[in-house]
Amino acid sequence: MEQHLQHPIFKALAGIADTHHIEAYIIGGYVRDIFLNRPSKDIDIVVLGNGIEFAELAGKHLKSKVAVFKNFGTAMLKYQDLEIEFVGARKESYRSDSRKPIVENGTIEDDQLRRDFTINALAISLNKANYGQLVDPFNGIIDLNNKLIRTPLEPELTFSDDPLRMMRAIRFASQLNFSIDEQALNAIKKQKERISILSKERITDELNKIIMSDVPSIGFKYLFDTGLLQLIFPQMAGLYGVDIINGKGHKDNFYHTLQVLDNICETTKDLWLRWAAILHDIAKPATKRFEEGHGWTFHGHEDKGARMVPKIFAQLKLPLNEKMKFVQKLVQLHLRPIVLAQEVVTDSAVRRLLFDAGEDIESLMLLCNADVTTKNEYKVKKYRNNFELVKQKLKDVEERDKIRNWQPPISGNDIMEIFGLSAGKEVGLLKNAIREAILEGEITNTYDNALQFMLEKAKEFGLQPIKR
Ligand code: CTP
Repeated sequence: MEQHLQHPIFKALAGIADTHHIEAYIIGGYVRDIFLNRPSKDIDIVVLGNGIEFAELAGKHLKSKVAVFKNFGTAMLKYQDLEIEFVGARKESYRSDSRKPIVENGTIEDDQLRRDFTINALAISLNKANYGQLVDPFNGIIDLNNKLIRTPLEPELTFSDDPLRMMRAIRFASQLNFSIDEQALNAIKKQKERISILSKERITDELNKIIMSDVPSIGFKYLFDTGLLQLIFPQMAGLYGVDIINGKGHKDNFYHTLQVLDNICETTKDLWLRWAAILHDIAKPATKRFEEGHGWTFHGHEDKGARMVPKIFAQLKLPLNEKMKFVQKLVQLHLRPIVLAQEVVTDSAVRRLLFDAGEDIESLMLLCNADVTTKNEYKVKKYRNNFELVKQKLKDVEERDKIRNWQPPISGNDIMEIFGLSAGKEVGLLKNAIREAILEGEITNTYDNALQFMLEKAKEFGLQPIKR
């Protein structure tokens, strides 16, 4: 802590506080993160009095522009790489029917009491008399040590002040690997329906933070157990459960998905690849069938799943752009390397996979590796070995045939010119025939070979080249 307080910004703020006889504290996430050893660039300052006026004094002193948010009674300035937000200590900061705070002056303890969690209510004094002293009336440090998310107030009040805190509790538990205090958990279960007053964007923002934590299953289990997941993302909650017919069950797709998600998080920080893991089996409930003599099947869940992706992205207000297309593609293709790994791996199958996956082949292989969740050591070994084989084949075939960024060796324009055609069915047929011949390995991926092949093929359609 000493070391953090040496920063010139705190000396400067302390100077202003003393000159103007204002009590000022560092508060919230920045203080929490000092104790957790997580460096942070966002600093919250609370003053007893007017936060905006204090920010303006600080702005003048530091020669920084101050952004004022009058409605919220807050102001913000940037100093070097830090973002510093100022607010006056509040008594009751939220009304129950909206997130808009009411500003009413209070003591530092009043302010701490209305914050979300005890670990976020720690304050450090900036005044000369007790510079650097920790103010911790709700035992936040004990909770930090016990890895516990607890509210300073009755949890029902804390959550009804701002229902986003239900998501935040679960997000912090997931990010920090903490538990949520029993009473707080019960309060979330009771008040879960109030999540509906929040915007989808705010909910998804928290959801994405859960997904970006090291072990996101911690957060998702809390979301499911509190009933929040069923409200915000029912398709995922629908993966839960096992049906049994004739004594035969299938695996629980919710816990399987969480295992795949945790697995992939060990190999990637890409949010969208993590989303692909969440959605890879999303259509399993919708495609589930029990076939006599065969058992449970989920035929076509990859196609249906891929079709569900745009709707889920729209519903969660995730971007409907190339990120969505990437997730959709991985959901669509997620079985392909596994199927390959189970069979004799032919070059043409590998070329087809490379053609379909293109630039995303590595991500797809990571997803497939993560998808192996069987507890059977022998099977795991077999799959992993076969994956290595597929990977090696992918490398060999790519080196030789350059399929990954495949561009047709003969373009549609070339075809039209050679045969004197205008755009139409024949051009497409010839292009497809060339592509198929290359993928099947009948010809190599070169212009000369493709031209030769095309001239032969064209005869079948009764086409003659007009120039050579
Ligand atoms: N806070 C709160 N209720 C909320 C949001 C925030 O009481 N719904 C308080 C907490 O004291 C929190 C501080 O405001 O520590 C700052 O909030 P924010 O910047 O959103 O979160 P951090 O705790 O700083 O954590 P992170 O940066 O990881 O989001």
